Amino acid sequence: MFYRPADGHGLPHNPFNAIVTPRPIGWISTRGADGRDNLAPYSFFNAVAYVPPQVMFSSTATKDSLSLLRETGVFCVNVVEYAMRDQMNASSGAFDRGVDEFEQAKVTKADCETIDCPRVANAPAALECRVTQILKLEGEDNHAIFGEVTGVHLRDDCLKDGVFDVTRFQPLARLGYRDYSVVRDVFSLNRPGE
Ligand SMILES: Cc1cc2nc3c(=O)[nH]c(=O)nc-3n(C[C@H](O)[C@H](O)[C@H](O)COP(=O)(O)O)c2cc1C
Repeated sequence: MFYRPADGHGLPHNPFNAIVTPRPIGWISTRGADGRDNLAPYSFFNAVAYVPPQVMFSSTATKDSLSLLRETGVFCVNVVEYAMRDQMNASSGAFDRGVDEFEQAKVTKADCETIDCPRVANAPAALECRVTQILKLEGEDNHAIFGEVTGVHLRDDCLKDGVFDVTRFQPLARLGYRDYSVVRDVFSLNRPGE
């Protein structure tokens, strides 16, 4: 089939979020100017540069994460492992702004080192970020948030022989609809000329 998004897809569910998959999940933590903490998953998320390291995620409405990081200029990206799938999902509920999803989803919190922001204490990795740009995207209320990584946490048991080893924690990925995937099979390829 072929469809133009402007004309609709005619399917029972929008296939768009099942096309670009699997997507990593950025579990974004923020702290408001008044000290309230927030945690929510975003799968329109990725790393976008090495030097300096930068990441982005996008908010398809003005959600609490975006409101809070506008106040403080910082956020933290926590990597989600398979073992944390239910807590990640619980944190995605549409809670009032005053609700701390760390408490709601029973996620242990720690403070970041380089920014005034909470992080998921036992996440396989966490990236402390300073907001560099917030871009208004096409559409009524779509926003892309870019951040420079100012601090990196790696859980000790995820490091093996100097390598951040995904088989030690099994990253969770978002597929379309209500589906997820978990990274369990890993193989290597040498690039041409290597
Ligand atoms: C796995 C997963 C991925 C999600 N990805 C996004 C996303 O990329 N952008 C977005 O705006 N909402 C996304 N959501 C929905 C938000 O997590 C949800 O709206 C949440 O309540 C926002 O929280 P906040 O208002 O505290 O920021 C996702 C939800 C789940 C479960």
